[in-house]
Amino acid sequence: MKIAVVGKGGSGKTTVSAVLARTIARQGWATLALDCDTNPNLGISLGLGEEVTERLVALRDAVDTGDVEHPDTSDELVRRFGVDAPDGVRLAVVSAIAHPQPGCPCCGVSPEQLLGQLAAPDLVVVADFEAGLGTVMRLDGRPVDVAVVVVEPTAKSLEVGRRAADLIRETQLGRLVVTANRVRDEQDVARVTAAFPQVSPVLVPDDPAIGEAERRGVAPLDAAPDSPAVRALTSLAEELLASAGEASLPQPRALAD
Ligand SMILES: Nc1ncnc2c1ncn2[C@@H]1O[C@H](COP(=O)(O)OP(=O)(O)O)[C@@H](O)[C@H]1O
Ligand SMILES: [Mg+2]
Repeated sequence: MKIAVVGKGGSGKTTVSAVLARTIARQGWATLALDCDTNPNLGISLGLGEEVTERLVALRDAVDTGDVEHPDTSDELVRRFGVDAPDGVRLAVVSAIAHPQPGCPCCGVSPEQLLGQLAAPDLVVVADFEAGLGTVMRLDGRPVDVAVVVVEPTAKSLEVGRRAADLIRETQLGRLVVTANRVRDEQDVARVTAAFPQVSPVLVPDDPAIGEAERRGVAPLDAAPDSPAVRALTSLAEELLASAGEASLPQPRALAD
């Protein structure tokens, strides 16, 4: 099962991706979290800490400077640029590097292509994409099972989200799930439902516990598991697993190194 998390910068993609990935892994599924952002910080939200997250990014950068050999396959890319995160999530940083070699599986393909190429019948993959609509376009019709569009209840964020949702529908990319993050009041709810009249958005409240976890550089799931925003996101993860049905889910197993 492949889950793509998209939306405007700062809407909450990384927060959403981290809670989804760890909750899914806790249910026993082999889970791969892909950090596809050129500013990769999913590791911090997963609870790996700043040091390990920076080391992963440095390893990815080392390929660019020629200090480390390019991996031969996308599977090797995930293995080499990956690390084990809490709850057994495997995290790999697969953002595009600055000086790509055409045709190279680690840098000649975009993270979106990589997601398409990954043969993941036995995995749940959660991809935290770069901000904006470019990622949805670069997915270029390669389907995912679920496209989570994260929006804040602001005019700009809703506009990006609405266009992303249109693209996802037009290209039949996968099941569309709109997640309205940082919702404060009924007016916010009204703004979101007006922007997405055809879907019933998942509502995630504006929650100081998320900001506090961010300041401390820890995972929201560890710092405040019972906070309203984390609860909303763990419920979403459970719903995604439940509605995926047995057929599209792998058998639970540990993700081998
Ligand atoms: N529900 C929430 N309540 C409060 N703050 C939040 C919430 N979700 C995200 N944030 C904060 O918003 C900022 C952006 O979130 P992040 O997940 O990094 O977004 P993105 O990956 O889309 O850029 C972070 O500082 C994060 O702590
Ligand atoms: Mg992010």
